[in-house]
Amino acid sequence: MPVDLSGPLLNEFEKTKKEFDRALSQNDLETARKKALKCASLLRELAKHVPYNSEFYLKKAKKWEKVAEQIEKGEYGKKAVVSAEGKRTQQDEDEEDQFKEYARNLIAKSNVTWGDIGGLDEVKVLMMETIVISALQRPKAIQPWKGILLFGPPGTGKTLLASAAAGSLNATFFNVKASNVLSKYFGESSKIITAIYDVARKNAPSIVFIDEIDALTTKRSNDTSEASRRMLSTLLTELEGFYDKGSDVLVLTLAATNTPWDLDEAVLSRFPKRIYVPLPDKKATREIIKINTKGLDISKLDLDAIAEESVRRLYSGRDIRNLCQEAIWNMIREENRDLYKLANLPFHELNKRSLRTRPLEMRDFEEAFKKIKSPLTRRDIERYEKWAEEFGG
Ligand SMILES: Nc1ncnc2c1ncn2[C@@H]1O[C@H](COP(=O)(O)OP(=O)(O)O)[C@@H](O)[C@H]1O
Ligand SMILES: [Mg+2]
Repeated sequence: MPVDLSGPLLNEFEKTKKEFDRALSQNDLETARKKALKCASLLRELAKHVPYNSEFYLKKAKKWEKVAEQIEKGEYGKKAVVSAEGKRTQQDEDEEDQFKEYARNLIAKSNVTWGDIGGLDEVKVLMMETIVISALQRPKAIQPWKGILLFGPPGTGKTLLASAAAGSLNATFFNVKASNVLSKYFGESSKIITAIYDVARKNAPSIVFIDEIDALTTKRSNDTSEASRRMLSTLLTELEGFYDKGSDVLVLTLAATNTPWDLDEAVLSRFPKRIYVPLPDKKATREIIKINTKGLDISKLDLDAIAEESVRRLYSGRDIRNLCQEAIWNMIREENRDLYKLANLPFHELNKRSLRTRPLEMRDFEEAFKKIKSPLTRRDIERYEKWAEEFGG
């Protein structure tokens, strides 16, 4: 694999940009012109080293070349400073506001805590550590992960983990489903990403959760649209910290996928921390059952037997939740035979009565097992495990 030079180049670019600003403020136009040209050539280098983003860098490079040209012609005034970052019009601003509004609408309130998650002890500790490191004062050399990738079978708690991370930090939580943004804002979806990170930085600490990141990937190149490619490259640029002014604001990006093998090199390299979220084992299954039967009497249940059967059937956390709900419904129906007949009563009448319950029994679960089927096979699980071995960590 070629050496990744993008980091050092970016640093050099940031440094040069500062030197440009300084020269300008001292009215040393000749130095400013040279620095502008250097900025441009660094960006052109970057374009070579970061192919998935080369267009973005080339565009920026051209703007810097324009600045140098304007200085040379003596046309360079205060206005030109603005034009290095792109001239802004009223229309741009209106449009940007609209995207920011959409970004604000993606903010979800998370009341989820670590205690709502059964099992996944190692994963939880890892995420807690990352979050703590990001939030603590620390020497510059210690950099927390900016992006964490959660991968594993569907329904294993990836979304739940992201919500718990946000809930525990009391962070602004952006719940972004890649396919939703794409279908709603097709050609403009990359602007949504920019807006999301703008809003996230202003409301830090923030967690940006990108669900189904595989929908954006370029590996299955035939069925990836130009729109998703652009959305992805903007996302990766954000993760590079290109816009990371004031790096002490915490904006953590969590991404999730059920199909990690669809992710290409560019994505993987921006998510060096990759966490496997596996199917629950017996102990985790027992915990998930307890979480999903809270408030009910489960003393008559043989939790070990239920857990064992669930593991054998390759149940995910979601399957176990559904199993519990089925079992609870079996109990409710048995205890409240003519429940449906009450449907004619007005709400205030209904509200006076309460459901009859009894302790959950094994037979409630035996019936429920018949209704819940995991979509997974042993071979699927092996595929995750193999990927985790090769790329996880
Ligand atoms: N480890 C777990 N502990 C408790 N509940 C879980 C767990 N995993 C999944 N669930 C249940 O399944 C639902 C779906 O899980 P989710 O986090 O959306 O899965 P994923 O994002 O991995 O597809 C959750 O809302 C929760 O009710
Ligand atoms: Mg999910």
